[in-house]
Amino acid sequence: MIRPIRTAVFPVGGLGTRFLPATKAMPKEMLPVVDKPLIQYAVEEARAAGIEEFVFVTGRGKQSIEDHFDRSYELEDVLRERGKNDLLDAINSWMPKSGQVSYTRQMEPLGLGHAVRCAKALVGDEPFAVLLADDLILSQKGCLAEMVEAYNRVGGNLIAAMDVPQEHTRRYGIVKPGKDDGPLVEVKGLVEKPKPSEAPSRTAVIGRYILQPQIFDHLDRVERGAGGEIQLTDAMARMIGEVPFHGLRFSGTRYDCGDKVGFLQANIAFALEHPDLKSEVQDFLRDIARTL
Ligand code: G1P
Repeated sequence: MIRPIRTAVFPVGGLGTRFLPATKAMPKEMLPVVDKPLIQYAVEEARAAGIEEFVFVTGRGKQSIEDHFDRSYELEDVLRERGKNDLLDAINSWMPKSGQVSYTRQMEPLGLGHAVRCAKALVGDEPFAVLLADDLILSQKGCLAEMVEAYNRVGGNLIAAMDVPQEHTRRYGIVKPGKDDGPLVEVKGLVEKPKPSEAPSRTAVIGRYILQPQIFDHLDRVERGAGGEIQLTDAMARMIGEVPFHGLRFSGTRYDCGDKVGFLQANIAFALEHPDLKSEVQDFLRDIARTL
């Protein structure tokens, strides 16, 4: 039986060193792309996929994330007095309801696998999703919604997958592919951040996962891997053969917002999708292109 996905985990404990000094006193997940923080895009994507429980694995200095997912009565009063109903909608309409959001802290920086393990008690014995806010995906349907649709057919573990240039394999978890029908690829093996010469393919894991709860047992047992961290990839690799395991080459474009250039690209791409900004931004880009 394929059990539904109700809970999503958002690991947001990372230090964001690649964006210093911007992230000295501000969580990297609160960096805005156009007018929304990265984490809000991830939460909206999860809501669009039918998620009802939102679990944040946070750390020191991340309080502004909690405040962002809470009502702001002073601000609401002022906006109401000024008749700014569109802005009232912009600060509230996307929020999960009271009781749907929980927080736990990852008290040691031991990696993504460790962060997910911290959510065990809040997730319980159910399949769940993991979304990495750094991976911002511009798509019609929403990447997680597309994954849930595929999951409802194949069950098991499902990861978002994307083919990357060979020289980039050391940035990603890489899939050893089995049967491959284009969008859906069977996962026969997984390696975290292999050298290009050792990578089993160019098919990379992108930061969206649907996982069966047995992952928590494997996370307990897995040794420290790449970078001395407890890797989600290594725990997932142990589940191959135990549950169906696929990668979905999702539609849309993924921006690596953990990287400065990717973050700038995301801002431009999302601005070009924004009805109020599109034409001014297009003019600006045309002007700049002429000077290059
Ligand atoms: C993490 C995962 C990696 C995955 C990547 C996707 O790496 O460990 O397997 O490919 O996210 O963005 P990180 O980017 O946190 O180093």
